[in-house]
Order: sequence, then structure tokens, then C-alpha cells
Amino acid sequence: MKKVLVSAPGKLMLLGEHAVVYNRPCIVTAVGQRMFVTLELLPEPTFELEASDVQVAGYTKPFANLGEGDIPKGARFVEMAVKNFTKKYPLKGGVRITTKSEFSSLFGFGSSSASVVCVVRGLSELAGTKLGNKDIFDIAYRTVLDVQGKGSGFDVAATIYGGTLYFVTGGKVIEPIALEELPLVVGYTGVKADTVTLINAVAEKASRDPERIDSIYTQIGKIVDAGRAGFASKTWPLIGKLMNSDQEFLTMLGVSSQKLDVMVQAAIDAGAWGAKLSGAGGGDCMIALVSREKKEAVSEAITKVGGQIINVATNVEGVRIEL
Ligand code: PMV
Repeated sequence: MKKVLVSAPGKLMLLGEHAVVYNRPCIVTAVGQRMFVTLELLPEPTFELEASDVQVAGYTKPFANLGEGDIPKGARFVEMAVKNFTKKYPLKGGVRITTKSEFSSLFGFGSSSASVVCVVRGLSELAGTKLGNKDIFDIAYRTVLDVQGKGSGFDVAATIYGGTLYFVTGGKVIEPIALEELPLVVGYTGVKADTVTLINAVAEKASRDPERIDSIYTQIGKIVDAGRAGFASKTWPLIGKLMNSDQEFLTMLGVSSQKLDVMVQAAIDAGAWGAKLSGAGGGDCMIALVSREKKEAVSEAITKVGGQIINVATNVEGVRIEL
């Protein structure tokens, strides 16, 4: 039977998290640890899934029941992606899907979105439908919303388009930022963060003080717009400053943590141009923008306070067919 192997990168938020849920822009880069998904057509209309990274083995379901019943956590995103794709573009038979990730789902690199995007891209290949990036985005973003209810879609865009993107909520704007390099150090806190819990915590804060929180979103949006120009002209010290002010606003939103604060401060004390949390906050990763000369000192400082340095390429290629 027809078979295809698809891969897609993870992502790191550079500027604008949380505000991007509320109609503001963000800047995101694709990272060089990838999700690999094999899709194989089956003669009968059955969905089969092997996803050992998220403890799913021998999972199977008739196509007619996709999305129904008690779905194991590790199968939800892929199953809904198959459901949403086949609703629009019916397959003749079924599909066997195997996922394998190069990165730990703990880092917050967006493994769920990367797997959804691989599934949609792979199914379009198997079905012979010609889908553009925006078509893939629409099905994949719908899937993420169906499963987790909330999210701007920035991670979906990053894993499809790759590179570094200027992105506005729901894909209203998706524009590449031309970059040759991105001098980042990435530090993992060792703490797994839950995106939806943090989005809800910020929403709760906003319900108590709507004007203040909305003005924070607007100021974060301005930081992102200034950052976009800074990235284009590679004015790293300016971007460092913007990262620091973004971190201050994220702290006001209540999404930083003591561990993140300590790692961010250690990076700045060791000579980084700037540093901030990356993603929802509460844990996951922080990023520091550093010159070549300071890279080692900053990495050591982060490690010394208990962070784990993650060596990843940034600004990498988006979803692609491997075989
Ligand atoms: O938890 P992450 O790394 O996927 O980042 C979430 C970023 C938010 O802005 C809080 C949510 C979103 O979907 O934009």
C-alpha cells in the first residue's frame, strides 16, 4: 500500500506570547528537532496509531467513530487531525500512522502541533490533494482548537512554514522574517508547563482588571513590532532590550516562575543582550540572546542555577516529505 514519511520542526516563541492569543502579533522560530510521522494507506476504513513517545501502542478505531468515546491523551491530536482531514477530503480506505519525535514533549517545542501538521501534510500526499500551506494551516489549527480549545495557532504556523515568522492570531498575518542566524541559548527549566492552564490564569486576571491587562497586551504587541524591524536589521542589542521588557510584562501577567526568573537573571548577569521565558511560562524553556563571545559564559551561568542547555538549530525548514 502507498506510504509516506513526513517531518516537521518544533518551535520556540521569541516575542509576544499570551498577547498573541488576543489579536496581537508574535515572532516565532522553527527549531531543528523534528517530529517524524509515517502514514500508510489501509484497504479498510480503519485508523491505526503507534506513538511510543506518548505511550500509545496498537491503538485502532473504525473511521466512522473518529473523535468519539474516550480517546487516550497521546492519540487525541492525531485522531482529530485524521477526522478533520477526511471530513473534507475522504480517503478510499484507512490509514496506519506511526509517530516518532526527536525532541522530548516536555520542552514545550510543540510536539502535538508538529504531529498534527505532519498528519495533514501526509494525508494530502496520500489522497493526492494539492494543499497549500494556508490550507494545511486551516485544518491543523482547527484540530488544535478542537482538542485544546484555545491557542493562537503560532506553533502550527511555525511547524508548517518553518524559518522565523511574524504571526498574528489565527493566522491573520503569517510573514517570514529573513534571517541567516539567530544567536540564541536555550535553557530548559526541568518543569513541564501546561499551556491551557496558563492561558486560563491570564484570562482570569484579565476578567478582574480588563483595562490593565489589555494595555499590557498592546505594549507587548508594540515590542513585537519593534522586534520585527530589529530582526530584519540584526540589531541584536536592541532585540535583547525588547526581550527584557517583554519578560517584565510577562511577569506582570503572572506567568513567569521563580526558576525562570533565576535563569533569566543568570543569563543577563553573564552578559546576554537579553533573556526571557519562551512559550506559556510556568516552566518549559527560557531563551537568551547572546554574542558569540558570551555564549559559553551565559550557558554556564544558566547551568549553574539548575537549567539544562538545549542545543537546537533555529530558523529551520518547515514541514516536508522525507520519503
Ligand atoms: O506553551 P507554548 O510553548 O505552546 O506557548 C504558548 C503561547 C501562548 O501565547 C501562551 C498560547 C498561544 O497559543 O499563542
